Amino acid sequence: MELRASSSSAMILTTRFLALFLSLGFQVVHAATTAQTKAFTCANGQTVSNSVCCALFPIIDDLQENLFDGGECGEEVHESLRLTFHDAIGFSNALHFTGGADGSIVTFADVELGFHANIGIDEIVDTQLPFIAAHNATLSTGDFIQFAGAVGVSNCPGAPRLNFLLGRPEAKEASPDFLVPEPFNTTDMILSRFADAGFDSDEIVALLVSHSIAAADHVDPTIPGTPFDSTPEIMDSQFFIEVQLRGTLFPGTAGNQGEVESDVEGEMRLQSDSELARDPRTACEWQSLMTDHTKLQQVFKAAMLKLSILGHNENDLVDCSDVIPIPPPLPSNAGPHLPPNTTLKDIQAACAATPFPHLTALPGPSTSISPVPPS
Ligand code: HEM
Ligand SMILES: *[C@@H]1O[C@H](CO)[C@@H](O)[C@H](O)[C@H]1NC(C)=O
Ligand SMILES: *[C@@H]1O[C@H](CO)[C@@H](O)[C@H](O)[C@H]1NC(C)=O
Ligand SMILES: *[C@@H]1O[C@H](CO)[C@@H](O)[C@H](O)[C@H]1NC(C)=O
Repeated sequence: MELRASSSSAMILTTRFLALFLSLGFQVVHAATTAQTKAFTCANGQTVSNSVCCALFPIIDDLQENLFDGGECGEEVHESLRLTFHDAIGFSNALHFTGGADGSIVTFADVELGFHANIGIDEIVDTQLPFIAAHNATLSTGDFIQFAGAVGVSNCPGAPRLNFLLGRPEAKEASPDFLVPEPFNTTDMILSRFADAGFDSDEIVALLVSHSIAAADHVDPTIPGTPFDSTPEIMDSQFFIEVQLRGTLFPGTAGNQGEVESDVEGEMRLQSDSELARDPRTACEWQSLMTDHTKLQQVFKAAMLKLSILGHNENDLVDCSDVIPIPPPLPSNAGPHLPPNTTLKDIQAACAATPFPHLTALPGPSTSISPVPPS
């Protein structure tokens, strides 16, 4: 069973997988416990369902140690997650452009990093380049970007364990411009852009769980590292709650990025997030994630799997999800809550069908949220 699956994958990426097959000699193959499942034990003692996945464990160690500062959920993880999106969303049914998650944002960096929507992406591309080169016998450029995202997110308490599928071919051409949404795009534009890539409005909200571990360096360059919620190192629901606070709209200082000030000092709200939280097409799904962490994890995981294989046939890829580390759980003192010194009166509820959840504020005076430190 595994051998047949592996053989068909090998035909797609002959040279890359040939190296892996030749290195299989040292691996112990355990007898199946049931007729359907077999497990291979890798050299490090961990089991995987497909032996080609064993080669990923040393790469995880390298990334954790040298890219993610020993396993943090910090700036490099946040940027690596953003990169998974900006690479993969280069897919359009309308334009018959099927590149998707193919690494083109790196392979054709000279083109794609010039797109306005990719502002700031050059930093993580520069940081990842030596890692991409070091591991290119195992991972294509497109594989690497999605792998780094999945491994990085595993450092964030409260995150789901993301899937990782292996075997994307190298990109053949650059993505066209204007496929990556921008914060000042209208909700109509954003919904139609995502629909063109195959995502419905619930899936957009699901993908925006990512903004729970996020900050902006370039929306207002005078305040780099300004997070989108009070807990940018935890994948919790505070992002969805805090975007629902009333805020004052003001133009960003860098060419009107559509910045929205938050009620919480030190935080920032994107105009697009603010509008999606209040649009009748997305508000109820948005609100539903505030108090249902299990759902938050499930929908984010499913949407990320879909994003990560855009442009590919799932059956052509090898499922190596079992190498991805299991993320730490939410801390016991995590939300959902209102920020200190706020009440439900500060909330601009927008879901007509369901009352806003009865959240209470953390005790104490108003707090100021620190920027995410640069790595
Ligand atoms: C409506 C769609 C979206 C828009 C308009 C949008 C826009 C933005 C903007 C403007 C930033 C700040 C960049 C900076 O100034 O440094 C940002 C950050 C980020 N975005 Fe999005 N985004 C969208 C969807 C997504 C999706 C689908 C993902 C991932 C699945 C994602 C992941 C992130 C992450 C992790 C960051 C933080 C990067 C960091 O902290 O360095 N975004 N986004
Ligand atoms: C891998 O990277 C090296 C440079 O580090 C390069 O010479 C080689 O062509 C790359 N191989 C693939 C398959 O991209
Ligand atoms: C976002 O807005 C810009 C400027 O109006 C436009 O050129 C671009 O196509 C829009 N992007 C999307 C995804 O709609
Ligand atoms: C509570 O918030 C109000 C503004 O909404 C502010 O004027 C006041 O100083 C805050 N009080 C404390 C104790 O932080």
